[in-house]
Amino acid sequence: MEKIVLGIETSCDDTSIGILKGSLGHYDKCPEVLSHVSFSQEKILEQWGGVVPEIAARNHLEKITPLLDIAMREASLKLSQIDIVGVTTLPGLLGPLLTGVNAAKTLCLLEKLPLNPVNHLFAHLEAIHLTEIVSYPYIGLLVSGGHSLYIYMESPLKFKILGSTIDDAAGEAFDKGGKLMGLGYPAGRIIDDMAKLGDKNAYDFPIGLKSSGDCKLSYSGLKTFLRHMIEKDNSVLEKENINNLCASYQKAIVDALSLKLRYALEGNNNLPIVVGGGVACNSALRNELKEKYNNVHFVAPKFCTDNGAMIANYALRTPENLLNFPDCLQIDARGRFIKKGKLHESSQSK
Ligand code: KG4
Ligand code: ZN
Repeated sequence: MEKIVLGIETSCDDTSIGILKGSLGHYDKCPEVLSHVSFSQEKILEQWGGVVPEIAARNHLEKITPLLDIAMREASLKLSQIDIVGVTTLPGLLGPLLTGVNAAKTLCLLEKLPLNPVNHLFAHLEAIHLTEIVSYPYIGLLVSGGHSLYIYMESPLKFKILGSTIDDAAGEAFDKGGKLMGLGYPAGRIIDDMAKLGDKNAYDFPIGLKSSGDCKLSYSGLKTFLRHMIEKDNSVLEKENINNLCASYQKAIVDALSLKLRYALEGNNNLPIVVGGGVACNSALRNELKEKYNNVHFVAPKFCTDNGAMIANYALRTPENLLNFPDCLQIDARGRFIKKGKLHESSQSK
């Protein structure tokens, strides 16, 4: 039976809603995307040089209702036609998450709907199935602003973390490096574009944990190396050098991800590889992995950065996690149940 799922994403700086139609718990067909609308706070947050949780939360609050309205109109649906609500409950910033979770609970209350509390990380990888069918098991490479992980995915809910970064995520390496180069926030896409005009072998950057023999990553040394390089001779930032600097810095990030993927595969070279998260948009990463690996699948760029469609998609793929109405109203912004007793006690003590 086909279901209509509305997904809400507000874990960081994108307010996004996606509405999908698909079979609950069936993986043989891509769902139909009925609407997919987002508001990115990039321009607002640029002046602060990054995400300020309180400002991000306020912007989510302002944008969520108009976006919901647009999404419903784009899908030509009435609220009463929605079957399931999915919402990011973790990981993420508490204030931003609260906005999305409360919007989701309000919809559930209005229409007596079940709710699926979604883990954003797996939703990023499983977003591959919005555009193509990849069989399990697969090796997931999740590269976003806050996470860099290699994950063995046996099913949407069964997984094993194989390795991760011990300090900065790949997206953070782009964003913090871009800040040092004076390129604005977030810098991933900017560095990607500038690198296309530069020589990636112009400067030598170190690869963290190069010889560790496992799929752990480390990017804090790379950022420090860049800082020292700029402090020593800031002519590297001049017009004739900056594209080369971007290309070389990006190469170090990409080479580390590519090198460590070999360890995640552990000789299973035919296993499908799925790459998702904001950094999966990166053109150099796409070229490098396609060149070095056989069976590599990239989440479509429009579903790589945070979005509601990937949340709805994961909700559709994980019926085991569905919470029925009215129990679903008891979840908090981290997807945990609020203890009924505790709520009762605090309201009595007032
Ligand atoms: O997945 P995402 O939207 O947010 C998190 O869940 O963290 O990822 C955002 C990250 C930012 O660090 C941004 O700089 C990076 O994705 N990013 C890119 C590109 N587009 C976005 N990094 C490298 N190249 C890109 N083209
Ligand atoms: Zn994300």
